[in-house]
Parts: sequence; structure tokens; C-alpha cells
Amino acid sequence: RDATRRTPLTLGFTSIAGSRSDAVIVPEGYTAQVLVPWGTPLNGQAFEWHAGLAMTPERQAQSVGMHHDGMVHFPLDRAGGSREFLLALNNEYIDQAALWAPQGGPTHADQGRRPADEVRTEIHAHGVTLVHLKKQADGRWSHVPDSAYNRRYTSASVMALGGPVAGSDYVRTRFSPEGRLTRGTNNNCASGHTPWGTYLTCEENWPNYFIRREARERDDERLGIGRERGRYGWESAAGDASEQDGEFARFDTTPTGADAREDYRNEARTFGYVVEIDPYTGERAVKRTALGRFRHEGCWPGKLDRGRPVVFYSGHDARNEYIYKFVSRAAWDPADANRPGEPMDRLAIGAKYLDEGTLYVARFEAGGRGEWLALTPDAVTRDGRRLHEALGLAADDQAGILIHTCDAADLMGATPMDRPEWGAVDPSSGDVYMTLTNNSQRTAEGSAATFTGDGQAIDEPGVGFATAPVNAPNPRPDNAAGQIIRWREADDASRFDWEVFVFGAAADDADNPSGLTEANQFASPDGLWFDDRGEGDGILWIQTDNGFDGVAEHTNDQVLAVVPGALGATEDASSVVNASNQQALRRFAVGPNGSEVTGIFATPDRTALFINIQHPGNWPASEDATLATDGQVRPRAATVVIQKRDGGQIAV
Ligand code: FEO
Ligand code: CA
Ligand code: CA
Ligand code: CA
Repeated sequence: RDATRRTPLTLGFTSIAGSRSDAVIVPEGYTAQVLVPWGTPLNGQAFEWHAGLAMTPERQAQSVGMHHDGMVHFPLDRAGGSREFLLALNNEYIDQAALWAPQGGPTHADQGRRPADEVRTEIHAHGVTLVHLKKQADGRWSHVPDSAYNRRYTSASVMALGGPVAGSDYVRTRFSPEGRLTRGTNNNCASGHTPWGTYLTCEENWPNYFIRREARERDDERLGIGRERGRYGWESAAGDASEQDGEFARFDTTPTGADAREDYRNEARTFGYVVEIDPYTGERAVKRTALGRFRHEGCWPGKLDRGRPVVFYSGHDARNEYIYKFVSRAAWDPADANRPGEPMDRLAIGAKYLDEGTLYVARFEAGGRGEWLALTPDAVTRDGRRLHEALGLAADDQAGILIHTCDAADLMGATPMDRPEWGAVDPSSGDVYMTLTNNSQRTAEGSAATFTGDGQAIDEPGVGFATAPVNAPNPRPDNAAGQIIRWREADDASRFDWEVFVFGAAADDADNPSGLTEANQFASPDGLWFDDRGEGDGILWIQTDNGFDGVAEHTNDQVLAVVPGALGATEDASSVVNASNQQALRRFAVGPNGSEVTGIFATPDRTALFINIQHPGNWPASEDATLATDGQVRPRAATVVIQKRDGGQIAV
């Protein structure tokens, strides 16, 4: 797409075969080392992890959390961080069988009261891990035990609310009558970063952890908060003699008091946000409510230009949900750029750019055009009403619009997508890529019934789609394999131009629009990273979280790479990757049985690629990620660092 480009980068590896084993597979000439698996102690409150270790709340709070997902590299100084850096890592959820293996499993997993200390341990296994990593003289990597940078933010850590929802009636609780604080971040899936050096961690499947038995609100229905028991039954520990400040009771948001200051009816309204962390200081994290409230997969900064607003893209990962863009009110000042190693008030800069601005939702049109629809109280809905009126809110209630982001997007006529997962931005062109992982609730015709998040069909227009009809960017009914789209902002800031980049498929599928072969068949794209190699060149890295048998019978989840700039113009309008250039998309790595591969970046010198292996079934067998065991190990999600044996740059 860029006519001024020089000779594009070429991939220097051959596509590897699919694999179904208990090992990580990488190309010939590469190594893969396991780093910071779940349970690795972060400090000198000494305990050694071993397969028989009984995890406790205290141990878990001082060690790496479970189920590694999104992650970001933060340099510690201006040298760039290719040999030493701070890793910020999401711990999305847990494998209870692995966590409680020495005890033979969790207590009262499905019914009855969970023991308080089991719940505390599980709460501490969620959240975010910050860990200092360093490359040794022999080229291997290790974490730095006792580094002052090592710390955890868990689903119990006190956090602040920022932006329009902060201090509003929507978020007053017994814990925070002023509506300014909450406890914990949950289900931190993908991640992002800001130009000022903070980590963005995104709350995705948090509705599954809350229940509300009665007096249910519109957003409980829309977002899918259940009625009976939370995902791990944390609320069942309420009333334990050791409970402090409703630490368990808060997961049941049924009103019990005279008003919101006496109970936890609003607790779930303090979740569903993009959360900003200063990884360097350990300051109290801030939930940036201006970016909307939904099942946030992740959050990615757009092309950055001096004197222009700062832009962030995010998606709501649920069937027939939407893609969003936040545009800051403040213009970008390069003086705010991260200065690693120097004192900075990064969260004050975060407030400047992330607490004031406009949230938009995407409408995709056939023919490759699209429109950003502002979610403001006076926006005009598709049926001609003011948005605040259509939602029954006061004329200045932006907090209400944000609490009900999904309803607002429905009313504006946003395009329901095939489960938006990760985004990636080419910093030169500003092209944005986003994975649409799959959608079992997409049909040719759609369904007249609208739905609520817990599957109840209701009769009110503009409240989500039980089954959406196919549309231009989501053209396949019962879409099991997913696709990746790409868009670029138009000169008119409310418009964009889009196209499908690649469709997932099995090689032998009749429906294989991008012409994939055994060498690159994939389904359910999820993780994504644009690896900018300068001068407009870069590699798009794609990771999968596949539930489609057509591909899963050939290979476990995987990492693929493609150089978009080398694909050239295409005769085939269905997707940018197509039968005439499909060999440009290559399989680089495959994960072990039972896992998904998620989270990705390389060191600035591009000699080390970091990925995460989440929910493996029988891995890792050793520090060498490529070795399988003959028996059964206590599985541990972990980071894996992939390097070339000759020390050269990855993938080229
Ligand atoms: Fe946690 Fe949408 O993946
Ligand atoms: Ca994901
Ligand atoms: Ca996924
Ligand atoms: Ca996952």
C-alpha cells in the first residue's frame, strides 16, 4: 500500500509443520526457553516452587500469577532494554486443577462454600505480574529475584477510578462511598501501552465473576452477569469469620442495604475498564473509564503525531459486539514521552490524555468505508433520538453513557463483529489490524430476536444481537475460523477505510478465501503484534486460540508471521492475503497440547521474541520449552523466549 517503500523485508525461515505434542516447536536454528512460569517467587519471602507445593494466599501474592496473556516490554533505562527490562504480564484466569493439585482439586468448586483462603489464593493468582528480566552472559534469560521492580497487582489490590464515571452515583459502594476506589482488576486479557511509559491492562471476562440474584440492572443483562454462582464461587466465601471489608461479599451485587453506600450493588460497575499501571513505581493503578465499559480485550495506541490527539483502539470480545476508538481531548506533547530511568508522574500524564476525550464506536459499510460514531449524550441515534434520551439518562450524563457503553453503541447503529480480539498498529502508516476470532452466532439472515448477555431474548430494539446477519467485514455464517481486518483513518477524522487482511481456514475447506495451505492454515486468530522494523517495514505476528476442529486436527495453536508490505497489490478483492501470495504467511512456532499462544513482543534489537503459553495441559517438562515429558507434569502457564542459536535477529 505504500508506493514509496524500498525493497521489503523478507522472512528468513521456512514455514514449520503443524504439531500436536506437549512441546513448543520452533524453526531449525532457534531455541525456546521457559521463563517466569506460574508460581515463580518474586522476592525473598523464600519458598521454592515444586510440583508438590501447596499454594497459599501469601505465597501467591509474592509470586507470578497464573494464565499469562498480554504482556509489554518496558526498558529500565535509555539503553533500550534488549538485555534487561521490566516485563508487565497479565494473569487472565486460573486452572483450578493445577492450582490445587496437591490437595486433589479445589474445595466445593461447583456448590457449597469455598474456603476463604482458597478464594484469596485464587484472587491473588489473577491480575498483573511485574518482573525484572535479564539476559545472562551465556545468552539465556532469567528473572531477577528480589528486584525492587518485581510486584503484583491482583484482584484484591486497591485501585482508583479515573474519568467521567469516577465519583458518580454509579460506582458508590460500601468500600468507597465517594465512588473513587475499588478493589482489584480481573480477567486481564490483552494489554497495551502508552507513549508515556505506562501499562494498559484490560478487563475482559469479569462479568463471569459477579452475580446478582435480583434487582438486576440493564447492564447486568447486557454484559452477562449471572444470577446463581460466579465462575469460581468466590462470593460463596462471604460471611467467613476472617472476611475483611466484604472482600468476598462484593462479588454478589444483589442490593442488601438501604442505599448504595451500604452494600456492593455497584461493585460490578467498577469493572470492565482499561486499567493504567505505572510499571516503574508500583503506584495505585487507575481504571480509565472514559475508554468505555465492556469486555475489553485490549487497548492499542494509534499512530502518534505531535500536536494531534492521542488515539487508542479497543474491542469488545463477545459475539456480535463492537470495535471502539478513544480520542483524547489533549494534543500530544512529545515532552510527555516516557523517559525510562527518570522520575516522572506517569499517571498524571495518563489523566491528561485518558480521562478526557471522546469514545467512538465503529460502523463498517460495504465497499470498504467506515464511520466512527461518537458516544456522547447528545449524539443522534439511528432512530433519530438523542442518545441520553434513548438511554433514559440526564442530558449531561456521560458517566451513564459509559456505564451503558454497549447499549449506547447498539442505539447508534454500530456494526456487530465476529468477536474482536487483539489490535496492532503499524506506526508508520497508522494501519490498524484487528483479529475477529470466530462467531457461532452469525447467520445469513440474522435473527429478529435481540438478546441479553445471559442469553435471555428480549423484545427491545437496540439491545445486542442474539444472532447477527452477515455483513461486509464479517461475511461468513457460523464463522468458526475467523478473520483479520485492517483499516486506516481517512482525512475526515470520523471516517476510515477498511479491508479484510486474511481469512482463517483449514487448507482442505471449501470455504478458504485466502487460499491457506498446510503450511499456514490457522483458525481463531487472537494475539497480534506489528513488529516495526523501520522505514515502513514490519512483520505482522499472528497468534491463535483455536476451537475449530478443521485446523485443530492438524496443529495446536501457533504463531504465524507475514510482511504486509511485501504482499503488493492484489487482483483478488476478497482479502489481502490470497491464493496468489499466500506463501508469504508462514508458521513460526506451535504451542503444546491444550494451550493457546498469546502475548507477544521482541526486544528492541529483535534478537529475542517473547510469547506466552496459556493453559497448557502437560507442560513445561523442563526449562527447554521444546522438550516433552513421558509422564504428566503439573502444568504451568509460562513466558517463552525464542532466540536464534547464532544470536541474529528473529524471523529474518
Ligand atoms: Fe481473553 Fe478474548 O481473550
Ligand atoms: Ca485473547
Ligand atoms: Ca480467544
Ligand atoms: Ca485465553
